[in-house]
Amino acid sequence: MSNANFLLFNTATKYQFITLNQTIARNYQKLTYPHFQPLLNNLTAEASVIAIGVELEAEPIGLILARYSQFPEEDNKIYGQILSLFVVPSYRCQGIGTELLIRMEGELKKRGCAEIELRYLDNSSTSALKQILTKQNWSIPEATALVCYATTANVENSKQPHLTQYLDRLLTHIPNDYTIFPWRTLTATEREIIEQQIQSDHLVARFNPFLEENKLEPLNSLGLRYQDRVVGWVITHRIAPDTIGYIQMFVYPDTQPLSRSILLLAKAIQLQVEAKQATKGTFRVDVDNKPMVKFVYRRLAPYLDEIRKAWQVSKCLR
Ligand SMILES: CC(C)(COP(=O)(O)OP(=O)(O)OC[C@H]1O[C@@H](n2cnc3c(N)ncnc32)[C@H](O)[C@@H]1OP(=O)(O)O)[C@@H](O)C(=O)NCCC(=O)NCCS
Repeated sequence: MSNANFLLFNTATKYQFITLNQTIARNYQKLTYPHFQPLLNNLTAEASVIAIGVELEAEPIGLILARYSQFPEEDNKIYGQILSLFVVPSYRCQGIGTELLIRMEGELKKRGCAEIELRYLDNSSTSALKQILTKQNWSIPEATALVCYATTANVENSKQPHLTQYLDRLLTHIPNDYTIFPWRTLTATEREIIEQQIQSDHLVARFNPFLEENKLEPLNSLGLRYQDRVVGWVITHRIAPDTIGYIQMFVYPDTQPLSRSILLLAKAIQLQVEAKQATKGTFRVDVDNKPMVKFVYRRLAPYLDEIRKAWQVSKCLR
């Protein structure tokens, strides 16, 4: 038996790996992200969610969570997604993470999954995760987005020219027929027009301002009108009591590519900083949005605490 196989064998015998039902899963809540915790309360076959836990003397020390779905438009192909993989720090580097992933792959295969996917954000465990994925023959990780984090204190204290100065400059140059308005004052007719555009224009669909509207943050969700037409928006959500997520930022390319949208973003940031309600902000930029990626590194970086990359990997199970 090779060293690696011995480690896995040893891990599998010393620790108890269990496919969780919702009663046992209650003890595992802390081992996944808050937004996935509700899934542990509904581990039924209909929910298409699988959780595998690992225990040492009845103490949960690791958890892997996945879901799967069937796509009728692709010959009923079933895709699985690993939602989270976590091992308590003091038990790491003993093969537990690898064993959890291998067992989850087996469970997903049993349920007919043809392909599985895992998305992750760079963190201190990325090297370990990549090591596991490489050994388990997953694809080469592909960068999908930048995820940026800032605090209002950092925005205020930055030694770089303040965003508001930039904003002042932009505002003085903005033609009179552009107006910024609070998104909550969007009229029913304007909404209807945008809804129609979502159906016919893939760009508007991609930056759909109406997703998860129950989370809309009225403080700094803004729209931009050119004459009497809505031509852009920055949509924010309150994603935690102290954190505003900048979810969508869009201005029709024909009304000016980037600077109008920057104007909206700068205004929204200014409103958040001034209101002093939420001290953190976060936003995500897809890597294929090249002008925005460039803007993040060139202009926004001084105000940001952190820029992390989001990655995607997959594995064919057939
Ligand atoms: C990623 C994680 C699950 C790994 O769990 P684990 O039980 O330590 O994993 P394993 O012991 O099976 O494998 C870890 C591998 O990484 C290697 N490793 C650990 N630290 C490393 C580092 N800094 N650089 C390179 N390799 C490293 C280990 O040597 C081991 O490889 P080996 O089997 O070839 O020796 C764990 O670190 C974790 O819970 N991290 C936080 C959550 C997270 O980021 N999850 C992934 C995204 S959802």
